Amino acid sequence: MSYDLLIIGSGAAGLSLALRVLEAKPQARIAILAKGPLSEGSTMYAQGGIAAVLDATDTTDAHLADTLTAGGGLCNADTVRFVVDNAKPAIQWLIDQGVLFDREGGDYHLTREGGHSHRRVIHSADATGKAVQTALMERIIESGAEVFEHHIAVDLIRERLGGGRLGRCVGAYGLDRSSGHVRTFPARSVVLATGGASRVYLYSSNPDGSTGDGIAMAWRAGCRVANMEFSQFHPTCLYHPKAKTFLVTEAVRGEGGHLLRPDGSRFMDDYDPRGELAPRDVVARAIDDVMKRLGCSNVYLDISHKPADFITSHFPTVHAECLKFGIDMTKEPIPVVPAAHYTCGGVLTDLSGRTDVPNLYAIGEVSCTGLHGANRMASNSLLECLVFGAAAAGDIAGKLAAIAPPPVLAAWDESWVTDSDEEVVVAHNWDELRRFMWDYVGIVRSTKRLERAKHRIKLLLSEIAEYYGTFRVTNNLLELRNLAMVADLIVRSALARRESRGLHYTIDYPKRDSIAPVQNTILIPKNFTAQRQS
Ligand code: FAD
Ligand code: SIN
Repeated sequence: MSYDLLIIGSGAAGLSLALRVLEAKPQARIAILAKGPLSEGSTMYAQGGIAAVLDATDTTDAHLADTLTAGGGLCNADTVRFVVDNAKPAIQWLIDQGVLFDREGGDYHLTREGGHSHRRVIHSADATGKAVQTALMERIIESGAEVFEHHIAVDLIRERLGGGRLGRCVGAYGLDRSSGHVRTFPARSVVLATGGASRVYLYSSNPDGSTGDGIAMAWRAGCRVANMEFSQFHPTCLYHPKAKTFLVTEAVRGEGGHLLRPDGSRFMDDYDPRGELAPRDVVARAIDDVMKRLGCSNVYLDISHKPADFITSHFPTVHAECLKFGIDMTKEPIPVVPAAHYTCGGVLTDLSGRTDVPNLYAIGEVSCTGLHGANRMASNSLLECLVFGAAAAGDIAGKLAAIAPPPVLAAWDESWVTDSDEEVVVAHNWDELRRFMWDYVGIVRSTKRLERAKHRIKLLLSEIAEYYGTFRVTNNLLELRNLAMVADLIVRSALARRESRGLHYTIDYPKRDSIAPVQNTILIPKNFTAQRQS
């Protein structure tokens, strides 16, 4: 079975791209791989909304300026312009797919989040991601695309040319988690839409599957990876000993919520004139500083001064989740801490989502398009998924007929491996990696701590390589292998940046470098060959 297009990932990026390609080429044969159920990914959990200029008093120039400021001088201005200009049609397309956004009077209600100078975030209460994911899944199920749930992509396949050279991407291997067998998925074009890598940290707002698989696969396949030092920590995740990390949307601050020390005093104005609505890097670092100074386990987020019906109608999901732990946000502050939330770096692409490898695309959180720079502004991520989903779909549909079918591909060879009798080692390594990444490569870094992490990762990588070469692959082993590789890329990038900028703050270089031009951190794999994509 051979496909025109293989899409790895079923979040906002992957599903919107599939639907856009089918709009242009209804006969296209598309396969979508999802490592869990179709619904599972960060998209499903997105709360605040999607940034777009929809108000007559707002402008795309202001959206552009805010994004550049939040991005700490590292955004690519052409990319930002491309995204903000395409935001309104992207929202209209979602409405056409059946997504219901909140209205107020005759207009859509727009909320506000950190870094935005206007109300600009269209939303579906505080469960925008669920509204988007559900609508896109409904369209996909009736679309004719073939969906492979519980299939985790193992590695990309490149065509073998003469003299040991590697050519275009022609498919991927995927582990069927139900049967335990690795299948081959040949395709003319392949899209990575696998989301981010925030699960490399012990505490994260992300679902379990955010293990950086796409970044690791692209790196192994010969793609450059950029700006991996910029791991975003969301300032406000619910803190409760019994709660799995749960995000408390930034829109709570956008609608007037205050951050408080345990004694009830506000502190954000001491750190930034924008107070609670400063960009995320600033707020997360301020909270980290307060917690370290006072030796407290958390700070508080309080919106109880607003009317109860305002709170329950704007934040029904957060309200219900807090109540499960005995916290009534209409009456009392919510205990919160920062947690790893978003991967600003990723696979380097152009404005059509094209990577360094011919016929391989990367879109959504897996990619580094230049939009986010050193710090993503709130609600620009779902927007990026939609805008690049459309752009890549246009590129793919435009040249589908001209791409030769993939050659016959070798089946996965597992003749030399045996079943693992030491799954416990994988679980142990998972825990160790995520804990030292949290301790050594978190919100505040130092060269010494980064060097320690580097040393530990080296040992882990060699253990994992031995394990991978000996035992049959499992979901946990594949994710651990990818996470360790991504951790290595993060630490190498962080050591390379000898300044503090945006989300990367190191006590050894606490100032922003004033030497222009500002450099992206671009890592080049050993098997990289510059190939022009047409
Ligand atoms: P995802 O939605 O994460 O989907 C990844 C897909 O790839 C999944 O289907 C997964 O199964 C699949 N996958 C991964 N690896 C493999 C593999 N090896 N093989 C097969 N399949 C694989 N952004 C905003 O703009 N606004 C918000 O309000 C907002 N709120 C957020 C709230 C939370 C709690 C979180 C976690 C994130 C939030 N974000 C928000 C960020 C945003 O949701 C994500 O960046 C965005 O949804 C990423 O979409 P994606 O399609 O790139 O990846
Ligand atoms: C939130 O609702 O706070 C998350 C928004 C985002 O990550 O863009």
